[in-house]
Amino acid sequence: MITQKTIQEVMNTAKVEEVIGDFINLRRRGVNLIGNCPFHDEKTPSFTVSPSKNIYKCFGCGKGGDSVRFIMDHEHLSFPESIKFLAVKYRIEIEETENTAKEIENKLITDSLYIANDFARDYFCDVLFNRQEGKSIGLSYFKERGFREATIKKFQLGYALDERDEFTKKAIDKKFNIEHLRTLGLTSKSDLDFFRSRVMFTIHNISGKVVAFAGRTLSSDKKQPKYINSPESEIYNKRAVLYGLYFAKDAIRKNDECILVEGYTDVITLHQGGIENVVASSGTSLTKEQIRLIKRYTPNIKIIYDGDPAGVKAALRGLDLILESDMNVKLVLLPENQDPDSFLAGNGTEAFNAFLKDNEEDFIFFKTRVLLSDTGNDPIKKTIVIRDIVSSIAKIPDTFKRTLYIRQCGEMLDLSESVLLNEVNKVVRSDAKAKKESNSPHSQELPVDSEDQWLNPKPVLSQSEPEILRNDAWQEKAVCAILVNYGHQVIDETKKQTISQYILESVQDILSYFDIELYRKIIEQVGKKIDSGFTPDHAWFTGHEDEEIRNFAINAMSSPYTYASWEKKEMFLQTQKMPDENYVRDAESALLRLQLRKSKRVIKELESYLKDATPDVVETEDYGINFKVYQVLISQRNEIAEKLGTVTL
Ligand code: UTP
Ligand code: MN
Repeated sequence: MITQKTIQEVMNTAKVEEVIGDFINLRRRGVNLIGNCPFHDEKTPSFTVSPSKNIYKCFGCGKGGDSVRFIMDHEHLSFPESIKFLAVKYRIEIEETENTAKEIENKLITDSLYIANDFARDYFCDVLFNRQEGKSIGLSYFKERGFREATIKKFQLGYALDERDEFTKKAIDKKFNIEHLRTLGLTSKSDLDFFRSRVMFTIHNISGKVVAFAGRTLSSDKKQPKYINSPESEIYNKRAVLYGLYFAKDAIRKNDECILVEGYTDVITLHQGGIENVVASSGTSLTKEQIRLIKRYTPNIKIIYDGDPAGVKAALRGLDLILESDMNVKLVLLPENQDPDSFLAGNGTEAFNAFLKDNEEDFIFFKTRVLLSDTGNDPIKKTIVIRDIVSSIAKIPDTFKRTLYIRQCGEMLDLSESVLLNEVNKVVRSDAKAKKESNSPHSQELPVDSEDQWLNPKPVLSQSEPEILRNDAWQEKAVCAILVNYGHQVIDETKKQTISQYILESVQDILSYFDIELYRKIIEQVGKKIDSGFTPDHAWFTGHEDEEIRNFAINAMSSPYTYASWEKKEMFLQTQKMPDENYVRDAESALLRLQLRKSKRVIKELESYLKDATPDVVETEDYGINFKVYQVLISQRNEIAEKLGTVTL
């Protein structure tokens, strides 16, 4: 593990304009630099780099962050990989926590496993091209299937001879450890070659290392399994590998789409036909780990199924996983008895692409259509289908997307939108509850609940009031923006009090009345940080692990006038000074406004309680207490209003 000290050093040293300048052309505009955004297509530059704040922000696509974030997004590296990348650039020595002896030993073993697999790969490839049996059986088979020599070499296809133990003997001669050969499944327990008389497919991990093999028999003997695969090992976790991803990743990024097919040969044929953004999941249904791999490059996935209707229905079940991870899923069903390999080989790339275009269908609609097609008029069967569709729609985290699906599927299922909405909501709620409960011992994040205002209807005072009066989003946002921009500034030199501390103290009491989850979350996190003795600065916000917080910070920092301009909505600028010079007063007035809003709201609620109280309620103790609270609040409100008046002058 990289130490916190190194991470800090890298973050403090890396200059965002230098880091980004290595990848794109930036030119100066005022205090900032601008260039064409590398994350979306644009002709007029809206990608802005602020050296003083050490962040970037694209006003076109909204991407933004600090140097580390840029490297993560641009180079598709993980956080520690990005830190290492920047450490190299700035010649910072990386300090890692001591590896234990066990860790060092494991590392040595993994390295040897990779080396043994490389040796096997070289052997199988050599046999394919240079040995009589390899050439006459293996190579001619691949060529008959239309694989060109360059393709065969690129994918490192090979051949395993019909011999008892030629490979194993060679490997032992070369001093490979027999235990390692067994672990990798290259050699059987009785020291025989595991792969015999098969054409070989080399399986790579995302960085191109050889992790496994698959051998396809060429015999028509039905008792022979068609493929045999390497067993799982320290270096091969079947669930986390996608065949072809190493060769596909650039194209996936470029096309912003990943095509998923069923077979190894499909990947190879499509690739050779110029469709390079394609991977296969090696005979299993898609796993969470594989989805996560794809998501590093694109949120769009298109699954091509072999033309085998029975198989498709079985496969539909696994796909809800992809919906949960908020990917866009399209499906294409090929004509009966065709797979992508045979279809492309028979019809050419152009016809293949045209077929995809004409036949691709959104997963949920596809599922609805396929399942409905054999319910006929049977109401029970139809109910089962509806339940199934409802549970799929409920898996989609994005509220808007869900609403659109509900509308369209309602039509397909001949159900009213509100009935379907109701059903979906029930499932969403019970899923969220289940999730909450299963997380509860360390539940800091409640993904569904917190981002879902649909499920958490905000307390609404009166529908007739304009939005801005109905909740306090603007005021909460203003306070948080000041926290981000000026929180680390010291207000009071003698007491060393910072703006953050001041804000935190002032909002303590009203935090539970916050309307917007995000703003409450920001305040709470800052509070925790302050409690631990650190005052969050710009870098803390812009490098925050929570994407929502990070994006909010980048936006709040991107324009010095942002919070001033929000205030125009309902309020006006306090002075002619720029916010940068005026943060103490702005913080004060933003806080007072927020407090005023909150107390006005409670007052209003109490007013209607007091007004509507029936004579017997008026007699109760509750009423008496509420009346007192009401009076206190009124005087507080007047006090705040008065202060605000003096600030406003
Ligand atoms: P297919 O039978 O469609 O094989 O299985 P294929 O790759 O298209 O081969 P050809 O074109 O008939 O030569 C699809 C995938 O299912 C897995 C493999 O990953 C295969 O590519 N599979 C299939 C196995 O793992 N074992 C098997 O016995 C069969
Ligand atoms: Mn196939």
